[in-house]
Amino acid sequence: MGFVLASMGSAVGLGNVWRFPYIAGQYGGAAFILLYIACVLAVGVPLLLAEFLIGRKTQRNPVGAFRTLRPGSPWVFTGWLGVSAGFVILSYYGVVAGWVLHYVYLSASNAFVGTSPEQITDLFTRLSSNRWLQICWLMIFMLLTIGVVSRGISRGIEAGNKIMMPLLFALLLGLLFYALQTPGAISGVDFLLRPEWEKLGRIAVLEALGQALFSLSLGMGAMITYGSYLSRDTSLVRCSFFVAIGDTSVAILAGFVVFPIVFSFGLEPSAGPGLIFQTLPIAFAQLPGGYWVALAFFVLLSFAALTSAISLLEVACAYFIDEQRWSRQRSSWTLGSAIFLLGVPSALGGEFLGFMDSLATNYLLPIGALLIAVFTGWGLGRDERRAEFTHADAAGFRFTGWAFLIRFVTPVALVLIFLHQLRVF
Ligand code: PHE
Repeated sequence: MGFVLASMGSAVGLGNVWRFPYIAGQYGGAAFILLYIACVLAVGVPLLLAEFLIGRKTQRNPVGAFRTLRPGSPWVFTGWLGVSAGFVILSYYGVVAGWVLHYVYLSASNAFVGTSPEQITDLFTRLSSNRWLQICWLMIFMLLTIGVVSRGISRGIEAGNKIMMPLLFALLLGLLFYALQTPGAISGVDFLLRPEWEKLGRIAVLEALGQALFSLSLGMGAMITYGSYLSRDTSLVRCSFFVAIGDTSVAILAGFVVFPIVFSFGLEPSAGPGLIFQTLPIAFAQLPGGYWVALAFFVLLSFAALTSAISLLEVACAYFIDEQRWSRQRSSWTLGSAIFLLGVPSALGGEFLGFMDSLATNYLLPIGALLIAVFTGWGLGRDERRAEFTHADAAGFRFTGWAFLIRFVTPVALVLIFLHQLRVF
């Protein structure tokens, strides 16, 4: 259970609460969510297991893992790709996490209670057009992340997450009750449950895949790093299911909180990256005890973002510590500062944040995912794979079922999604 919660710390973050609702909103709701769930099942769960397997087998960072398993082969490129993806993602993840910190500040200074929906929407517009403010918050968030990683206390922080994550979930559940009582709740629920397939664009499938990989921290080796914490006798199958179910429930729950509010207050479901910042505070403004609810919500979300950011920075640091013999201090400060600089253009308020996000989720993660799936399914031998399965899992359908998925279903699904994107069909 400890391990599952730790990997959940990496998985549950802004991807679930910030990104999932706004992407689902842009791609029309229910139909997108069904595609998303299909991606989690066909690609997410098998790949989660594959990354845990590689991590536990090698006890290494992603670059070192491929180097250990197939020395001198080009597979090591997969590890490099992962390290680069971590850089790209954390640079803009830090900007969004900075927005969350700003909302902690706004909640603490009682900016929502008694404020009209228009004024609340405006608060976000003002933040996203203030470069210096965003750069400052990005810097604070990066300092927090570097502080944790440089002290090597990530696992201590993950322990804190054991309390924070259930609290975040409970708070979201509470908000769900409120959201379902707002006047537009029916339209919100309808939006999330009644698929309108004709509205899905070509890119929606790739977006659903990218979102599934992003949300489960897959395709870049974060879960390889976490797999190395896993004890030998733990069932990889169960862990993968727990993490996938936990992560997906938080995302869907967030959707069910956000959309009733969106429809009740006449907001745009496709408002984009500001969606949760413009909707949830409206609810907080109306709720009894809204001051505390807002504060608790944004503090918990900052924490969830921090535990995901730690895993992003840790991937790159682990490489420099293990392979280049850098000290933990040196690698976390050097890499963290480089990532901060890379994040500055995303904090300037233009198109750059969206560009980096699309680079990571539409390209780097899916390509990384394809390589990891092909490596585990075809690069490793059957016995190498089976050796990581516990006794009960190795014997039966669990092993053969997973092996079938990771060899055929996952890579084929990934390639088809790419071909679809390239308009081959
Ligand atoms: N899964 C994290 C989230 O949902 C983001 C993340 C992506 C973390 C990739 C690590 C690796 O917020």
